[in-house]
Amino acid sequence: MFNLVYRSKVNPVFVQSQIKYMLEHARTFNSSKNITGCLLFHHGVFLQYLEGDKEKVLTLFESIKKDKRHTEVFLLSSSHIYSREFDSWSMAYENFLGANHQLEYLKLLISSFTEVPDIAINPKPTSKGFWTAAKKLLHS
Ligand SMILES: Cc1cc2nc3c(=O)[nH]c(=O)nc-3n(C[C@H](O)[C@H](O)[C@H](O)COP(=O)(O)O)c2cc1C
Repeated sequence: MFNLVYRSKVNPVFVQSQIKYMLEHARTFNSSKNITGCLLFHHGVFLQYLEGDKEKVLTLFESIKKDKRHTEVFLLSSSHIYSREFDSWSMAYENFLGANHQLEYLKLLISSFTEVPDIAINPKPTSKGFWTAAKKLLHS
């Protein structure tokens, strides 16, 4: 089992409603490849966590990198893992547009990371703790 985390910047022509269609496609594809994960979208920045079979995740990441709907795709971390974080979610998604106070914490972590990654508040998106927190908050 393998995971990776990347960040990218949205192409401004890619609007919120199109993200919905992209997600539908992504969820169908990911389910068929047994890939699970989470996509966060905040202030024009995507943070995505993908996990599954290494070859399948890397192949998907290759197509994601070529996608014109975002730019500056930057791999933040990748590693072998023993178990899945998002075992029942083909692609959890949060855009932080709703007024959910529980997500404020996650927004703070993301903003801190996207502004100055080196001195960001912990847990950072490169750590397991961040995605465990994301999973809990998105569930609640
Ligand atoms: C931010 C972002 C995240 C994406 N995540 C996924 C994903 O998890 N699974 C997926 O199948 N496609 C995802 N896509 C879409 C892929 O980039 C691509 O369109 C899809 O794999 C089809 O590629 P193909 O046209 O080369 O077959 C994502 C696109 C963007 C912009």
